[in-house]
Amino acid sequence: VIDQTLLPGRLELLRLDSPAAVGEAIRSMRVRGAPLIGVTAAYGLALAIAEDPGTRAIERAAQALCATRPTAVNLAWAVSRIGEHVRPLPAAERAAAAWRAAGELAEAEVRACEAIGRVGAALLSERFPVAARPLEILTHCNAGWLATIEWGTALAPIYRLRDEGRAVHVWVSETRPRNQGLLTAWELREHGVPCTLVVDSAAGPLLASGRVDCCLVGADRIAGNGDVANKIGTALKAVAAKDAGVPFYVAAPLSTVDWGLADGRGIPIEERDRGEVTDEFDIAVFNPGFDVTPARLVTALITELGVAPAGDLPKHFMELGVLHPARLARPGAELES
Ligand code: MRU
Repeated sequence: VIDQTLLPGRLELLRLDSPAAVGEAIRSMRVRGAPLIGVTAAYGLALAIAEDPGTRAIERAAQALCATRPTAVNLAWAVSRIGEHVRPLPAAERAAAAWRAAGELAEAEVRACEAIGRVGAALLSERFPVAARPLEILTHCNAGWLATIEWGTALAPIYRLRDEGRAVHVWVSETRPRNQGLLTAWELREHGVPCTLVVDSAAGPLLASGRVDCCLVGADRIAGNGDVANKIGTALKAVAAKDAGVPFYVAAPLSTVDWGLADGRGIPIEERDRGEVTDEFDIAVFNPGFDVTPARLVTALITELGVAPAGDLPKHFMELGVLHPARLARPGAELES
C-alpha cells in the first residue's frame, strides 16, 4: 500500500504482511478512504485466515479489523463478505479462497468507481453544458484513487470529464485536521486538473460568491433514508450550498449504503485523538472524523448503477430490481447482484 500519512511530501510503499500490520495501517490512516479500507481489511482477514483458518479465529480477526475504524460501512461489509464466503468451506481451503475473494472485491470496487465516473460525467455534462469558463466544482476530503484503488468516487467524474476534454477547475477544501485536501490536490495535479486549495472555513463565502457550479463529495456510510456520513465539514458545506442554490452531489458505490440503517442518527461517528488537533496545550478537544448530511440537502447520489434520488434510495433500487425488500430488515443487507 501507499503510506498516505507521508503524502504529498513523500511517496512510499509499505508492505502489510500480517493482520496486525493491516489493522495498524487502517487505524493510523496510512491506508484511508472508505472503499480502500474495506478492500485492505478484506486482505487483512485473508492474512489472518492463512495464520489460523479456524472459525473462532476468523471471527476474532474479523472483530479486530472492524474495530479499527467505525464509520465507513465498507470495512465491516468487506470483512463480512470474506467471512461469509469461507465459512462453508473446509478449513484447508479457506485461506486461498479468502485471498481470491479479496482480489475479486478489489476488482469490483474498481469497476464500480469507473462506472461512477461515467455516470457522474454524463450527469454533469447534461446539467452544466459547456460554457466560456471551466466547470467549477467544490470537493471535500479525498475521494480520489488514493481512497479507492483506482478512479475514486467524487473524483472519478472529474477525471472522466477531463479525459473527454472538458475544462474543469476544482476547489479543494483543506479538510482539517488531517488535511486530506492536500491528497486531493496532489492527485489532481498529477492528472493535470487545475485546482485551488480552499481554507476550510472559506467554503461558505466561496459558495455564496457564485464561483462554484456544484459540490461533489464522497461518502463513508449512507443510511437507508439517504442521510450521508462523510468527512467532518461536509454537512456545513451542504448547508452553505443549499443557501447559495448550488447543487450538492454525493458519489459513492453501493457498498457504502447501509441498507439496514433507517437514518443517519444510527451512524457511528469516529472520534479521533486530540493529538491530531493540538499536542501543545492541555485542553479538551472535540475531534469527530465525520458528520452526517441530511438527505434533504443532497441533490442526488451518483452510483455505479446510475443517478439516484438521495431521499428515495430503497424504492429506487427495488424498482431497478437489484434490492430485495427482505434485505432491508437486517444490518449489512446487500444487493441481490
Ligand atoms: O478519514 P478518511 O480519510 O479515511 O476519510 C474517508 C474519506 O476518504 C472521505 O470521507 C471520503 O469522502 C469518502 S471515501 C471515498
